[in-house]
Amino acid sequence: MDLATITADIERVVVTSEEIQTRITELARSVEADYADKNLLVIGILKGAVMTMADFVRALNIHIEMDWMAVSSYGSGTKSSGVVRIIKDLDRDITGRDVLIVEDIVDTGLTLSWLRANLESRGAKSVEILTMLRKPEAAKVEVDVKYVGFDIPTEFVVGYGLDYDEKYRNLDFIGVLAKKVYA
Ligand code: PRP
Repeated sequence: MDLATITADIERVVVTSEEIQTRITELARSVEADYADKNLLVIGILKGAVMTMADFVRALNIHIEMDWMAVSSYGSGTKSSGVVRIIKDLDRDITGRDVLIVEDIVDTGLTLSWLRANLESRGAKSVEILTMLRKPEAAKVEVDVKYVGFDIPTEFVVGYGLDYDEKYRNLDFIGVLAKKVYA
């Protein structure tokens, strides 16, 4: 198995590695300006957001703190149920904190909608969202996402944190998975 074998499973590149890094830098400048005088807490949502989180926080030139959550949206058997279960919770109290949730993708919006409400209910001063990808046509609920990397069509994408059966997360670009892989 080599990289050529893995990338042969990709039908089409949607966002290149260079495009991701350029956009990350732009987003970092926006976030810096918005949180210059604040004590920002950046919360990455495992596992998909690991790549976005790692590149984004390294592009930031302000003091931040980091924490992680892992959630599962398979609560009642379907991914789009809106039932979210916390697998790993935050390590610290977020009362009074300015919070930025970092995600790899907003699909139906159900996970982020639940997450934002959950963090607000803990007494956070503000809760905003940064996502690398958003699928506008797949939205089932409106979620106000302040920082969006790229809006993409409703296709099955993998790479840069996004998986199929836990694989392809380590690609440094985002692409449409060939149907032959999962058909
Ligand atoms: C993905 C993604 C979001 C959620 C978005 O996570 O990271 O958390 O799905 O989908 P939604 O908008 O339809 O709710 P996933 O459950 O695949 O877990 P993972 O990050 O561990 O891969």
